[in-house]
Formats: sequence, C-alpha cells, structure tokens
Amino acid sequence: MTVTVVVGMYWGDEGKGKIVDYLADSYDVIVRYQGGANAGHTVKIGKETYVLHCVPSGVLTPDKENVIGNGAVIDLQALVGEMTELSSKKKEYKLYISNRAHLTLPYHIALEKRDGAIGTTKRGIGPTYTTKVERTGVLVGDLKNPDYFRKKVQANLDRYKPALDSLGEKLNADDIVAQQLSFYPAIEDMITDTVYLLNGWLKECKNILLEGAQGALLDICFGTYPLVTSSNTTAGGACTGSGIPPNAITNIIGVLKAYPTRVGEGPMPTLMPDDINEEVRKAAGDEVGATTRRIRRCGWPDFVAAKYSKIVNGLTSVALTKPDVFDGRQQIFICENYKRGDKIVSKFPAGAYDLGECKPELRPIDGWNNTSGVTSYEKLHDNLKVHVELIEQNLAVPVSIISTGKERDSTIIRRPELIFPK
Ligand code: IMP
Repeated sequence: MTVTVVVGMYWGDEGKGKIVDYLADSYDVIVRYQGGANAGHTVKIGKETYVLHCVPSGVLTPDKENVIGNGAVIDLQALVGEMTELSSKKKEYKLYISNRAHLTLPYHIALEKRDGAIGTTKRGIGPTYTTKVERTGVLVGDLKNPDYFRKKVQANLDRYKPALDSLGEKLNADDIVAQQLSFYPAIEDMITDTVYLLNGWLKECKNILLEGAQGALLDICFGTYPLVTSSNTTAGGACTGSGIPPNAITNIIGVLKAYPTRVGEGPMPTLMPDDINEEVRKAAGDEVGATTRRIRRCGWPDFVAAKYSKIVNGLTSVALTKPDVFDGRQQIFICENYKRGDKIVSKFPAGAYDLGECKPELRPIDGWNNTSGVTSYEKLHDNLKVHVELIEQNLAVPVSIISTGKERDSTIIRRPELIFPK
C-alpha cells in the first residue's frame, strides 16, 4: 500500500495538476483534500487542455476512484458546472464527495466583496472557512435535511445582515435553499462518509494519491500571513482534509516550479525585473491565473523559500517543473539567502511584513537549453543537471521527477521508487 501526497512548494501554480495526472494511472484513488473553486489545475492530454477547479485531476484517467475530502469547500454551482463540462467531453469518472465538506454559498461569495485588499480569487473561500471555524457552516451532508439546511442558511443571513445590507446584497434563504437543492440530484449518489470509505480502501491496500491545491507559502498557518489562502495547503492538510491518518502516508512529493510565481497581493523577494518577467511569461505561454486570468509575477529560484517548504511539508522528494521555460537563457540567478539591511536572513520569515523587508542575494549560474520534451535525464543539458544537483544539495532531498513540457509524456522519472506504488 502506498499513500502519496503531492503539494506545491511556492505560492501555487507549480504544475501539480500535470504531476498528479501523470501519477494517477499508477494509483487506485485520487483525493482533493483542501481549497475549493479557487484552485485551477491545468492538464494537457493530447490536443485537449482541461482546467479543473473542484474535482481531483484523477477524473481524467479511466477507472479511478476520485474523492473530494472533508477539508475541501464546495461551490455546487461550480462543481456541477465542471461535471457537466467533463460529460460533454465524454469523460467518465467515479467521484465521491465527503458529507463533512463545507458548502460555499452565495452569502460567502457576497461577503468576499469586503476583502479586496489581499487579492483573493473571489470564490468565497475565506468566508466559507470562516463560517466553518465560527461553527455556523453548512455541510454537504446537510443537503439531505432541507429544513435543517434552511435554518442554518437563515441563521447565517441574520448574522451577516449588517454586512450584506451595506454591500447592497439582498439574499434570502428560500432562494438559496432552492438553488442548492436544484444541484442536489446531480451529486446525491456521490455524497458519503469519505473517512470510512478511504480508511476501508487503506485496509484493502489500495494505493492513494492525495492532491494538494495552492502552495505551501499560501498555507493559513505557514504561509506569508495574512496574504494567504484559508486552508492548510501543506502536507498536514492531506490528513486533516481526508481522514487518512499521518502514519499511513508513505511519500510526500513537493512540486517545485523552476521559478516561483505569485498572483494576488504579497511579497516575493526574488521577483524578476519587469523585462525578464515579461520574457519568462512569454516563454511559459500561460503564466496567468487558471481561475482568475490574472497575471502571475515570476521570480528567480528561491532556495530560502524552497528549503522552508521542504521542512514544513516533510518532503520525501521533489518534482521539478518548467525548467524548459528557461531554455536559451545565458544566465539564471538563484537565491540562497535574503538580506534585511546588512543582516543575512537564511530562514523564511514568519509573515508578509518581514518577508517584504527582505532583499534577495542573487548568484548567477549558467543557463541551459533544449529541455523541452526530453524524456531521459542523460539527455538534459549539463548545466540543468548541475542545477538539479544544486536543488538536491540545498534541500537535502532527491529530485524524483523532472517535467520538461505540458504533455504527459514530457516527463523524466529519476527515482521511481519514491513516487510509484510498491
Ligand atoms: P483565496 O484562496 O481566493 O482566498 O485567495 C487567497 C490568496 O491565495 C490570493 O493571493 C490568491 O491569489 C491566492 N490563490 C488562491 N488559489 C490559488 C491558486 O490556485 N493558485 C495561485 N494562487 C492562488
């Protein structure tokens, strides 16, 4: 039995969708365990590109069990819309939804209009996790008791009345309940207690792949607070968001994009100058947010952040993505320390303010070329191999996968024993 967690190591958009899609074929079950419709996992298969927001990337591989765990928050309109789109593309899949997952309801989305300052995705994520913690949230499992469901919705509308009034939002409980119940038939048979389901599969020695959303530096506890998302994006979230116990986890793969990117507000010390940022975005082709279409800011490889991410996730290996985007560059700059005033900072600071005070100490390394589509490590440019070794030395963890392009096949497997079921 193998249980593998895949997490992002920077601020999201590292290419987790491609890695999960690649690994899915070797696993029996794929689980989304946190976040909601704020995520955007882009997967390219042949000529078709899929952008998944709610469902696990395993839906694109036939005959897999897919689970949305209790730690996720679910916008039924977005979920059912995505399911309809998959059906229109003739994708068949098996999906189970935790009865403990919280629903994102229209008042969550309305309330987020107040929170413009941090540049959220406006999908109601923060307000949904807020009502979860306030103990006023509505669970997927509540849908089967319409009276109880309505009571909870009404209590929230009453509670948030002053805020909703000030936003000019005129929501009423009957409309919300009617709208949500209209989605219910599409998912009714999928709703179950996924804690027992997953633990039953563990007993049967099924192999389980847990798919993270966003990245470690957006984690509510460990990220650049307060400019973070509202869930635990780090590996611990895989347990609390699924009910799979920590001692069942065998592998934790950190997806390390060759360069960090960030959408939304917040500091990124290794931010590239505007002209290089533009060149990198052009070379990558798609450095805009998969959910909001906002431009992603790009930075040089940041080992201070990546080392921190390795620690808080307990990584057992790293999947390096998008090194091909740097193809043809003479020089690349890497950051192994920050500086604050004249002090060296080698530990990732605890909050956005302190991180914003840090400047990167950049060191040039020789660039590489002809990475795109390469499928064997031996065929990579020598300078890229040096960079891979530098990552391994800095992070003290092996690089198990190198992705050399968007397609499934553009993948190098260096350490199969660290990523595939035994
Ligand atoms: P929220 O998750 O919509 O509350 O947004 C909080 C922060 O996380 C904002 O800076 C968003 O841009 C960022 N964020 C949320 N989801 C993603 C994602 O999937 N990729 C990258 N950034 C994200």
